[in-house]
Amino acid sequence: MSEQQETKKQRIFSGIQPTGVFTLGNYIGAIRNWGQLQQDYECIYCIVDLHAITVMQKPADLRANTMRCYAMMLACGIDPKQSVAFVQSRNPHHADLSWVLSCSTMFGELNRMTQFKDKSARHADNINAGLFTYPVLMAADILAYNADLVPIGADQKQHLELARNVAIRFNQRYGETFTVPEPYISPAGAKVMSLQDPMKKMSKSDENVNGCVYILDDKDTILRKFRRAVTDSDAEVCYREGKDGINNLMTIYGCVTGKTMDEITAEFAGKGYGDFKTAVGEAVADHLAPVRDEFARLSADKAYLNACIDAGSEQAYRLTRPILSKVYRRVGFIDRK
Ligand code: TYM
Repeated sequence: MSEQQETKKQRIFSGIQPTGVFTLGNYIGAIRNWGQLQQDYECIYCIVDLHAITVMQKPADLRANTMRCYAMMLACGIDPKQSVAFVQSRNPHHADLSWVLSCSTMFGELNRMTQFKDKSARHADNINAGLFTYPVLMAADILAYNADLVPIGADQKQHLELARNVAIRFNQRYGETFTVPEPYISPAGAKVMSLQDPMKKMSKSDENVNGCVYILDDKDTILRKFRRAVTDSDAEVCYREGKDGINNLMTIYGCVTGKTMDEITAEFAGKGYGDFKTAVGEAVADHLAPVRDEFARLSADKAYLNACIDAGSEQAYRLTRPILSKVYRRVGFIDRK
């Protein structure tokens, strides 16, 4: 093996939907890790606007949200000089590959996807084909770059499993073409739960506004949401089965302070839940303060953001072009120039 091959970094791909302000779940489960991985991997991160239109969007809002989410992604620590940071619709290869892969994806596989079932229940008036084939596009996002690793929260695991199966099937059918990607799911915070219903994932679509913390919430709002968090009827801050509310708060506190569960238990021994909830709120608000400041700074510089999107999307296109050419040759299309 040549020296160059030995030192070649593994490639990472991940994406996030521009459907509103990122939640603390998005941040802890995914984006925080994206930033940390930039040193050691070749990273490609994407605002997935093609995915967003599987549910009804107002065009002007989607455009504005895509820009805002791009700024949020950078504010969370993604450096567009170090990583490829772009907008999905600006690289047409995602949609091109998605079609090819859809012909190697079985209807039954898609029909088993729990997110499709959840979303079609929530959007019963708009169960469109895109909602159903969404995981194929996600597979295309990842496979178009031959990514080795995909940092995601636990809720995306089933989609990643499908991407792996599609890659394996395609490789068997047409010869080795795609890298079979591995999920990168961080051991802590892979599933941040709602503050109002700790059996449910924290989600933008939570009807109860107090269940979900957004990364741009101000300090008072964050404190208020944590003070109202649902806990249990005993008064011991410790991580134990059945204490879902406290377990969730401890996980969040651990993720933003770096403290272990034992350290947190010791810190709050003999103190009430009120003190603990306030401490978690304070720690989260302090942790997110620089993200909010950076977001405000970046949002004021639209020209910079547009230049970053242009450059990132161009880089992304250049990365996928040879892979798409290979796929087209493999399936028997006349090669594009
Ligand atoms: P999305 O936009 O719903 O969420 C973005 C990332 O945040 C994670 N996440 C959570 N992690 C922990 N706790 C939570 N409560 C929580 N809520 C969300 C998600 O797991 C995800 O990692 N289909 C994807 C976007 C996508 C993608 C891709 C991801 C499109 N193509 C290719 C990876 C690779 C989605 O809807 O994520």
